[in-house]
Amino acid sequence: MTEPIPRYPIRTATAATLRDFVAPLLAAFGEEMSDTEYDDWRRTAEPDRFIAAFDGPASVGAAGAYTFRLTVPGGEVAAAGVTAVGVEPGHRRQGILRTLMRQQLDDVRARGEPVAVLWASEAAIYQRFGYGLATLNGSLEVERARTEWLRPAEPVGRLRLVDADEALATFPGVYERVRAVTPGALSRTEEWWRWATLHDAEYMRRGAGPKYRYLCEVDGSPEGYAIYRVKGDWDERGPKGELMVVEAMATSPAVERAVWSFLFGVDLVRTITLRRVAVPPPLALALADPRAIGLRVVDGLWLRLVDLQAALAARRYGGPGELVVEVTDEFCPWNAGRWRIAVFGEPGAAVATVERTDGPADIATDTADLAAAYLGAFRLSDLARAGRAEELVPGALRRADAMLAWDRAPHCGTMF
Ligand SMILES: CC(C)(COP(=O)(O)OP(=O)(O)OC[C@H]1O[C@@H](n2cnc3c(N)ncnc32)[C@H](O)[C@@H]1OP(=O)(O)O)[C@@H](O)C(=O)NCCC(=O)NCCS
Repeated sequence: MTEPIPRYPIRTATAATLRDFVAPLLAAFGEEMSDTEYDDWRRTAEPDRFIAAFDGPASVGAAGAYTFRLTVPGGEVAAAGVTAVGVEPGHRRQGILRTLMRQQLDDVRARGEPVAVLWASEAAIYQRFGYGLATLNGSLEVERARTEWLRPAEPVGRLRLVDADEALATFPGVYERVRAVTPGALSRTEEWWRWATLHDAEYMRRGAGPKYRYLCEVDGSPEGYAIYRVKGDWDERGPKGELMVVEAMATSPAVERAVWSFLFGVDLVRTITLRRVAVPPPLALALADPRAIGLRVVDGLWLRLVDLQAALAARRYGGPGELVVEVTDEFCPWNAGRWRIAVFGEPGAAVATVERTDGPADIATDTADLAAAYLGAFRLSDLARAGRAEELVPGALRRADAMLAWDRAPHCGTMF
C-alpha cells in the first residue's frame, strides 16, 4: 500500500523562500509587510524552523519557531518559541493548523527541546494541542497625577540618556541578571537586541515618537534601564501625553523604584502605559493609591510540555516530597501515563527525579494543566477548583502545591 498524498503538503523554508512562507500569515491577520519590514524581521527569523502547507504553488498556512532558553524555577530549559502561525482565510477550518502543530511539535521533540511556548492571538486556540496558561500578563495605564509612593525612600542611582550603541553594550547585562531569576523570561541573542528590542524604524512608531533609552547606574554600574516612546497630545486643560514604556528593567527593588520614579517624572505626560508586567506587579503595593495603575490582566505565555520528564526534572522545587501524577496527553501520547516525582534537597534548591511508575496515583490531570502549574502561575489546587485536576489521595494537592511553590511570579516580557 502507498501512503495517501496529503491534500496540502508541508514544506520547510529556506532563506531564499522564507518570504513566500509568510504570505498566509499576512492574509490571516489582514496585514501587509513592506520590503523594509521584511528585511528587519528576517534578521531574527530562523528559516529552517518555518513550515508551510501548500495548495499547488501557493503557501496557505504557516508556522514558525525561535530557538530560546526559557527560565524555569531555579534553572532554564531549551524552548521552541512558536510564532507566525496563520492560515489564509480561504483555507481555514480544514485541519491545516492541526497538521502544522503536529509536524512542529514532532520537530521540537526531535530537537530535544523539552517545552514549546507561544503568545496566542486568541486564547481559545491552543489548549486542544496541550498548551497550558503558564503566565498571566498584566498591562498598566498609570495616572501620573496619582503616583505618590506609599513609603517615600531616598532614590538610588542616576538615569541618563544613552544612544543605541551604549544601550546595546549595557542593557543586555541587566536583562540577563533579571532573566536568571524570573521564570517565564526568554534568552535574547545580540540580533534580537539589535533588531527586535532596540531597533526603531519609522513603521514601528504608529503615531508616537522615537524610542528613548535611559540607563540607570548605581555607583557607575548598570543596574536598570527604561525604553519608552511619547505620544504627545494636548487638550483645553493642557498637555495629556502618553508615555509608552516599551520595557523597564531593574536588578533590585530600589532600582525598580528609581526607574519608575524617573518615568513618573517625565513632563507633558498624563498617563504612563506598559503592556507587559508580572502579575501581581510590585507597583500595586508600592504606591499610596494602588488603583492608579489601572491594572488589566489577560493570558500571557502558553506553554506545552513536549518532553514532560525532562521539563519537570529541569526545574527546582519549593520543598522535598513525593507525588505520583496520572497524566493524560492526547496530542503527545509519549507523555501520557503515571509519573512519580520525587523531590529532595533544600527548599528552593530541591531537585526532582521523574520516573514512570505502576504505583497508585495521588493526582490525575492533563498535560495542559500541569503546564499551567509548571512555572508557578497557578497551583494544582487552583486547577482542581476549576475542575482540571483531581485529588485521588486526601492531602495530595496541598503536598503538590508545596513542592511546586516558587518565590517569584512567572513573567515573560518578550513578545515574539
Ligand atoms: C487560528 C487559525 C490558525 C486556525 O487555523 P485552521 O487551519 O482553520 O485550524 P484547524 O482547521 O486546523 O482547526 C483545528 C482545531 O482548532 C479549532 N480552532 C481553529 N481556530 C480557532 C479559533 N480561532 N478559536 C477556537 N478554536 C479554533 C478548530 O475548530 C479545530 O477544532 P477541532 O480539532 O476540535 O475540530 C486560523 O483561523 C488563523 O489563521 N486565524 C487568524 C490568525 C491567528 O489568529 N493566528 C494564530 C496566531 S497565535
